[in-house]
Amino acid sequence: LIAYAAERHITIVPEIELPGHSLAALAAYPEFSCKGSPIQVRTTGGIEENVYCPGNENAMKFLETVLSETADLFPGAFFHIGGDECPKKSWNVCPKCKKRMADEGLKNAEELQSWVVRRMERLLNSKGKRLIGWDEILEGGLAPNAAVMSWRGTKGGFTAASEGHDVVMSPTSHCYLDYFQAKGGEPRAIGGFLPLQTVYSFEPIPDKLPAERTGHILGVQGNLWTEYIPHSAQLDYMAYPRGCAIAETGWSQKEKKNWDDFQARLSAHFARLDARGVKFRVPPPVIAEK
Ligand code: ACM
Ligand code: ZN
Repeated sequence: LIAYAAERHITIVPEIELPGHSLAALAAYPEFSCKGSPIQVRTTGGIEENVYCPGNENAMKFLETVLSETADLFPGAFFHIGGDECPKKSWNVCPKCKKRMADEGLKNAEELQSWVVRRMERLLNSKGKRLIGWDEILEGGLAPNAAVMSWRGTKGGFTAASEGHDVVMSPTSHCYLDYFQAKGGEPRAIGGFLPLQTVYSFEPIPDKLPAERTGHILGVQGNLWTEYIPHSAQLDYMAYPRGCAIAETGWSQKEKKNWDDFQARLSAHFARLDARGVKFRVPPPVIAEK
């Protein structure tokens, strides 16, 4: 995969999700959860309450080993550790987690999550990598050199950039390519509504961000999670042409963007996508105004 991407001038950023969204790993290593009892792999999507136990030193060492081995594989500068959607319920009742919080002088479970992220950042920095994580890593204090992927809106990205951290903008409002593109007649999807024009309208640099901080907005990312995507033709349908709009918001200045012009240029994109066998979504005809 790495070589295939490199030949196409693409750098893959690996994401090893922690400390939540990790039930597959915990099914194999149940001793690394707070309860430690056997767990089945989930067969549905969603947020899982069973998460890694930061009070368990072996669990933290396991994560450091996995990150270390994965960091050695991937040549890119960034390493994504997830950090999103981690329920803290088990940490608040787990004796090992409570002891960790007391030993480390942490006030609450948010600070415990921050402690985990900082620890993983030290490991990654020692391997010459930069840590990036979802905007939840701001909660409980952002790790010193961390970059943030802003997905729950752009506020987290704004805060991080204001504090001098690098940011990739990927808000659900404009960048979630797993959302519906029409009000009906579409294949099953997770929900939401994100038509092409909304994607195109995204401006990654927040208006109120001071000029000297705008350089911290590294770019944009379209997220195409695949719980509801059974085959590659449907993936193409979700990815294109919205992916073309994401790209243009990433590399065009605000003043140079123009929706009508973009729409006119789409036919060239379509010819190119068609030639490559990409099963893009054909936008419905627009009725001209009188
Ligand atoms: C996310 O969509 N949970 C980053
Ligand atoms: Zn625990």
